[in-house]
Amino acid sequence: MRLLRLSPSLPLGFLLLFLSSVSAVLARAEEEDPTIRTMEEFSGYPLRESPSWVADSLSSLSVESENLQKQIDELASFSDTPAPSVTRVLYTDKDVMARRYVKNSMGLAGLSVREDAVGNIFGRWDGLEPELPAVATGSHMDAIPYSGKYDGVVGVLGAMEAIKVLRRSGFKPKRSLEIIVFTSEEPTRFGISCLGSRLMAGSKALLKELETTVDSQNTSFLDAAKYAGYAQDPVDLTSVFLKKGAYAGFVELHIEQGPILEEEGVSIGIVTAIAAPASIKVDFEGSGGHAGAVLMPYRNDAGLAAAELALAVEKHVLQSGSIDTVGTVGILQLHPGAINSIPSKSHLEIDTRDIDEERRNVVMEKIHQSAIRIARDRGVKLAEFKIVNQDPPALSDESVIRAMESASKDLKLSHKLMISRAYHDSLFMARVSPMGMIFIPCYKGYSHKPEEHSSIQDITNGVKVLALTLAKLSLK
Ligand SMILES: *[C@@H]1O[C@H](CO)[C@@H](O)[C@H](O)[C@H]1NC(C)=O
Ligand SMILES: [Zn+2]
Repeated sequence: MRLLRLSPSLPLGFLLLFLSSVSAVLARAEEEDPTIRTMEEFSGYPLRESPSWVADSLSSLSVESENLQKQIDELASFSDTPAPSVTRVLYTDKDVMARRYVKNSMGLAGLSVREDAVGNIFGRWDGLEPELPAVATGSHMDAIPYSGKYDGVVGVLGAMEAIKVLRRSGFKPKRSLEIIVFTSEEPTRFGISCLGSRLMAGSKALLKELETTVDSQNTSFLDAAKYAGYAQDPVDLTSVFLKKGAYAGFVELHIEQGPILEEEGVSIGIVTAIAAPASIKVDFEGSGGHAGAVLMPYRNDAGLAAAELALAVEKHVLQSGSIDTVGTVGILQLHPGAINSIPSKSHLEIDTRDIDEERRNVVMEKIHQSAIRIARDRGVKLAEFKIVNQDPPALSDESVIRAMESASKDLKLSHKLMISRAYHDSLFMARVSPMGMIFIPCYKGYSHKPEEHSSIQDITNGVKVLALTLAKLSLK
């Protein structure tokens, strides 16, 4: 320890490598070192608790915050709606321009860039032992209509900055470090969330579905992908699948999208689990008719069936008795949608989540039973009850949690363990790699709207924790 303190200019890489290999020897030497004992008595606090290698190497972790903020602002300008809102939908011109911007930045940062058949982007920094499974980080940069500029982007541009931080400090990773920009985390265009990571995790169901998926303009997924320069013939989307063990670890930096960290004044959230999401599409069909002419006893109103099911969703969720169970009817459409016409068709989309998969599944089953009963009682047809996705929750990996915790401690940043109630690409990466997530505070928990904001100080803290976490994982 004394040796390291005498060499404050040693690069982080050397310090970490050195520390990882000889920490045991060091620990023994430390106990016998009279200088440290004297220093402790002199200073009045234990030096052993705050090893100086941390202090030395951490002071070399310098984030270029101003430049990072500039990049976040620049990326936000690739938008189909005016600032401060951001709208960037999969495979549109603005999405393609944003992809070009990020690939270019990756190249400038010295990463080797490649893309797969659906446009997941990979930027790799070769480690000293490039044949070992790499450690990956990343997030998404698509943005739902009229959303903000931090969701996902912090985990893409922040990852790039984390790599640059490590490079500037002189660090050399043992395992390669890789940044992944995931295709279509948001379901905006094709109704499929986490499309890129879901496919990377080897979803055969998605593979099949993508053959026939179209957007609201009847453009097929494959045509849209081709338009953006992907899915070139011969199309083989199984090439997107990752092999289990492809990565030694995956860490995603993300804004919390909730108010907890800001309210509690905590800098870093260490995610231990991601809640299990599910979504359902329901269609009811009735006879419709004239709003004046058809008397009440002779109606089978598809709109009222939808309204009753929406209330049933709320009831079943509350019946679970757990604050962690949630359900939302975010889409409710009536056809033909005229004030003087009894709805002949209705369409609902239901989102329900829980950290407990079984409890969530019970809610889904109750919703199904209610849909059947409501259709029967009201004489309408339950034309569709389609479970779009029913995903299990994901647990963060112990080793990744420990790396994130010790990085936060080394950096003297307040941190807490927490659950992610929103889902992320990490949910699917957890199927093929040990996973962890780093949350940073965001203003009032706002997300998916233009007011979404994280301070540059909070982003900088997140980048530092990410950099140090990647450094630790890369040396394992
Ligand atoms: C959508 O496109 C397909 C193939 O081009 C075509 O067969 C189909 O009729 C179209 N559907 C609608 C609703 O336009
Ligand atoms: Zn996101």
